[in-house]
Amino acid sequence: MTSKINGARILITGGAGFIGSYVVEELLPHNPKKIMIIDNLIRGSHENMKNFSKDPRVEFILGDLRDTELLEKCISQSDYVFHMGALRINSCAADPKEGFEVMLKVTFDVAQLCVKYKIKKVIYSSSASIYGLAQHFPTPESDNPYDNQTFYGAAKMWGEQLFRSYKFMYGLDYVALRYFNVYGPRMDTDGKYTEVMIKWLDCIRDGKQPLIYGDGSTSMDFVYVSDIAKANVAALLANVTDSAFNVGYNRETSLKELLELVLKANNSVLEPKHMPENTVNPVSRRLADTSKALNLLNFKAEVSLEDGLKKLSTWYFEKQKAKTTV
Ligand SMILES: NC(=O)c1ccc[n+]([C@@H]2O[C@H](COP(=O)([O-])OP(=O)(O)OC[C@H]3O[C@@H](n4cnc5c(N)ncnc54)[C@H](O)[C@@H]3O)[C@@H](O)[C@H]2O)c1
Repeated sequence: MTSKINGARILITGGAGFIGSYVVEELLPHNPKKIMIIDNLIRGSHENMKNFSKDPRVEFILGDLRDTELLEKCISQSDYVFHMGALRINSCAADPKEGFEVMLKVTFDVAQLCVKYKIKKVIYSSSASIYGLAQHFPTPESDNPYDNQTFYGAAKMWGEQLFRSYKFMYGLDYVALRYFNVYGPRMDTDGKYTEVMIKWLDCIRDGKQPLIYGDGSTSMDFVYVSDIAKANVAALLANVTDSAFNVGYNRETSLKELLELVLKANNSVLEPKHMPENTVNPVSRRLADTSKALNLLNFKAEVSLEDGLKKLSTWYFEKQKAKTTV
């Protein structure tokens, strides 16, 4: 049986970003006719796209998703849409008006245009943030989102519900993927909101003590970026619609354990420095129940945290070396 992707035209919003660029790489072996990327590069980059920048099937369009004419032009030429363009959680909190435009208005436009141009299926990047502090661990998709306190989580939940209502009203097929804590090469190393793993790698590079705020018991479910890309392709290929799926590894790791693993991956003997808690983190635990994705999408994350951290560290130090030799 030939894959749905074979010969298809696909739009990826935010495809120059961290996760989007891996989705492009995961789609190409399925032989799509065309992949269009719209990205304004506020966070994405040409560097992220370098593995496929010369592939004639991929068209990168430097543009803003708030440009409805551009969005319409691209959606009118597509069979499938991966809607991944978004602001980070902290950017939404810093500027909710922009958060509204990019997270809500753009998602509304995407849904409207997907109905207008009879898109066969939309894969929507949602987030574990919708749960806030979940009710159950591991967290099933049926847990409610009432604990979420963030604009970002609210926007992602609204996006999921928007696509649900468009399925109900107009028959638009979609799958929403709730990513847990995504990491891997190409994650942001020098932005304003750099993740803790990168801060610790900076400490290893500089021979400085890595900092842990509080007792380090806050836990997360880390999932490697290429696994997220595989989940996106599985969601497109599966005969499943109108459903949301957790995408995690189903392993709970505290920040304290994470630091030990980061140090071990780099053969580092640095001792952590414990600091008083500086912010109140209302989400103290994350652990995905991943059985729904296994049963219905036939997807299971494969890259262990140990292996993923080694790959991340190798990439990070190669990048540092390249910086110093320029
Ligand atoms: N990284 C994670 O841990 C994580 C977790 C849960 C959900 N997600 C979701 O996954 C998706 C991809 O995330 P990511 O980690 O790759 O983030 P990212 O910031 O690397 O990718 C988002 C891309 O969207 C682009 N973009 C933002 N606003 C735009 C606009 N107005 N016009 C055009 N392009 C615009 C950015 O330049 C960027 O390349 C997002 O929807 C994000 O909310 C990510």
